Amino acid sequence: MKKILITGVAGFIGSHLADYFLKKNYKVFGIDNFLTGSKDNIKHNFDNENFHFLEHDVREKINISEKLDYILHFASPASPIDYLKHPIKTLQIGAIGTENILNLGVLNKAVVLVASTSEVYGDPLEHPQKESYFGNVNPIGPRGVYDEAKRYLEALTSAYNKKKKLDVRIIRIFNTFGPRMRISDGRAIPTFINQALNNSNFTVYGDGQQTRSFCYINDTIEGINRLLESNFQKPINIGNPYELSILELIKSIKRIIPTNSKIVYEDFPENDPKKRCPDISLAKKLLNWHPKTNLIDGLVKTVEYYQSLN
Ligand SMILES: NC(=O)c1ccc[n+]([C@@H]2O[C@H](COP(=O)([O-])OP(=O)(O)OC[C@H]3O[C@@H](n4cnc5c(N)ncnc54)[C@H](O)[C@@H]3O)[C@@H](O)[C@H]2O)c1
Repeated sequence: MKKILITGVAGFIGSHLADYFLKKNYKVFGIDNFLTGSKDNIKHNFDNENFHFLEHDVREKINISEKLDYILHFASPASPIDYLKHPIKTLQIGAIGTENILNLGVLNKAVVLVASTSEVYGDPLEHPQKESYFGNVNPIGPRGVYDEAKRYLEALTSAYNKKKKLDVRIIRIFNTFGPRMRISDGRAIPTFINQALNNSNFTVYGDGQQTRSFCYINDTIEGINRLLESNFQKPINIGNPYELSILELIKSIKRIIPTNSKIVYEDFPENDPKKRCPDISLAKKLLNWHPKTNLIDGLVKTVEYYQSLN
């Protein structure tokens, strides 16, 4: 039986990873300190004898008594609301937390996959973003704590690969969405769904023409699995190249939720990216992966999830 450790297991992506690998009959060890995650996302697995949960901060040394085959490092605040609330912790998790995980990987001779992000490209001057683009990041801007934490995570992971011959994977995830995102985490899709369900105004930053691309969680999880099973040790983009403006996203949500909500415009946040769209040619070629769920189908499932919470 393969053994896998998932950090950030009580979060949005981590909890879906746990479900996925339990279904594949792996023994799953999960770590989380509930900084931004919730027990509700994993409690359905507490009775599963192959699921072992440890409440722990990845910035502290990690002891797992069994030999691990794989480690997936997903612990980190991910939404702007969260990392702006925890700027120093975010940097420490990217630095100290990642170093702890990589050392555990060396000890276990495990494959270590680390979650990076499209935010390493900052407010990009190249469009769509290929893995070869170095990015346009303001290190001391409001988003700098997250962007630089992830850039350091990539640098450290790559150094462990070169110096300690650790078998690594680095995934640059573009916006992903689906059930278990916190409704109040400030990211576009949960925010607009929440506003539509409550008939409150849609809050749009700037003129709403800025673009984003959204990948449904099941596709993201499949991409993570394919990367893990590959032998590719450099950064790779996983995301949906279907690009739309924020105003078009609101239109799509209004097709699913009939609402009286009006749009109100607010100031565009400093250093917020104006365009965001992955070039996924590398993932298509190396992993034979591309997203299969279209935006509307993904939104319908996400809305159903939020409605089921009431
Ligand atoms: N969701 C996205 O669109 C997206 C995009 C790019 C990258 N990512 C990356 O994927 C990972 C997961 O993102 P998410 O959207 O699931 O966020 P999330 O906030 O839902 O999950 C993060 C989890 O990490 C846990 N955590 C935070 N600090 C910790 C610590 N010190 N020790 C142990 N656990 C800790 C939190 O409690 C939470 O359960 C993050 O690393 C994020 O940077 C996510």
